[in-house]
Amino acid sequence: MGSPSAAGRERGGAAKGLAATSAGVGTVERSRKLVVCVPQDPRVLDSMLPYLTAYYGNPHSRTHAYGWESEAAMENARRQVADLIGADSREIIFTSGATESNNMAIKGVARFYKSRKKHIITTQTEHKCVLDSCRSLETEGFRVTYLPVKKNGLIDLKELEAAFQPDTSLVSVMTVNNEIGVKQPICDIGEICRARKVFFHTDAAQAIGKIPMDVNNMKIDLMSISGHKIYGPKGVGALYVRRRPRVRLEPLQSGGGQERGLRSGTVPTPLAVGLGAACEVAQQEMEYDHKRILQLAERLVTKIMSEVPDVVMNGDREHRYPGCINLSFAYVEGESLLMALKDVALSSGSACTSASLEPSYVLRAIGTDEDLAHSSIRFGIGRFTTEEEVDYTVQKCIQHVKRLREMSPLWEMVQDGIDLKSIKWTQH
Ligand SMILES: Cc1ncc(COP(=O)(O)O)c(C=O)c1O
Repeated sequence: MGSPSAAGRERGGAAKGLAATSAGVGTVERSRKLVVCVPQDPRVLDSMLPYLTAYYGNPHSRTHAYGWESEAAMENARRQVADLIGADSREIIFTSGATESNNMAIKGVARFYKSRKKHIITTQTEHKCVLDSCRSLETEGFRVTYLPVKKNGLIDLKELEAAFQPDTSLVSVMTVNNEIGVKQPICDIGEICRARKVFFHTDAAQAIGKIPMDVNNMKIDLMSISGHKIYGPKGVGALYVRRRPRVRLEPLQSGGGQERGLRSGTVPTPLAVGLGAACEVAQQEMEYDHKRILQLAERLVTKIMSEVPDVVMNGDREHRYPGCINLSFAYVEGESLLMALKDVALSSGSACTSASLEPSYVLRAIGTDEDLAHSSIRFGIGRFTTEEEVDYTVQKCIQHVKRLREMSPLWEMVQDGIDLKSIKWTQH
């Protein structure tokens, strides 16, 4: 695959993209430009096309050339994924995405070692699929410690150390948080776990390809990866499973024993090839992307904060991935702001929870008060986001925050110097 090609970038640019999650304040070409979600890199699609048309063999068929071609492509993709995280190809298991990888890692390790170990440690700000996997293990008799986070969104390593029990089998802490972008101290957590011979799993869906990750330096034993968070296809991901010291898992699915017996089912060759290509492109462009994204993020935050008072940035300012920005606009109802910015793909919480009007559990965990949590918006900046898109979003955002505040009685009271906290609201 070529180097960070201008052609690839330009073609990617055609898809446009400020998205609301990990990769871009997305605009939609139809209405204006910024496009939602992480667009697939056109170089990824190019790599997949032959396996959607000419090479359709089952990669697990050993008896004919069609199968061998697909197998070779799948193994090449496995190597590309492994190379991005400093792993051995044999440690990469293809899955349908990070949800499956997280389920597999957490339930798989817990159940395999259950005769001796019944305790797991995770955090309160993990993705739903981690939290729900843990909750379902609790119904099977496992005990789970959900570590709180500090106001900046990071865990306290002392609290982690204190949480270990003699029968702890696994610690699961995400690398980059999908709502507030904070980066947990993964190297330190890896050290702490290794010293206690407890396996360490990290959900790196929002980190892979965006910040350097090395499973050996970071002493990670299991790592979840998602295709569509790194400009790859949806419906594919991977789980890294360490071979030495060997991690054993009870598989979730029964079947043909593919993927070293850990994940039965035919590997979808085109999707695996797409994931591999996305990893290779990410490896080549990570440094460049990171620099650009950092500049755009600073542009967005600085412009908004210099024009609009009472804006709070959620999550640690230093230990973060810059492409995921979460801002609270005091005295503005987040949903109203989102509606006003319909042509920009932003969101008020994580995609899986934003359907409900409950404030985000991540914001609650960092101690954001309810009003401010309701006024929070996530901005994502990614590989294909342009300066023009950032400026458009900033301008619209400033305009609508000002408009909504002008309509807000609370804002008016604040302008009149009234301390809202001093008010005793009458109850009926
Ligand atoms: C941190 C994190 N973990 C897991 C997932 C789930 O990934 P997938 O959609 O590949 O199942 C996501 C995606 O939203 C995520 O951001």
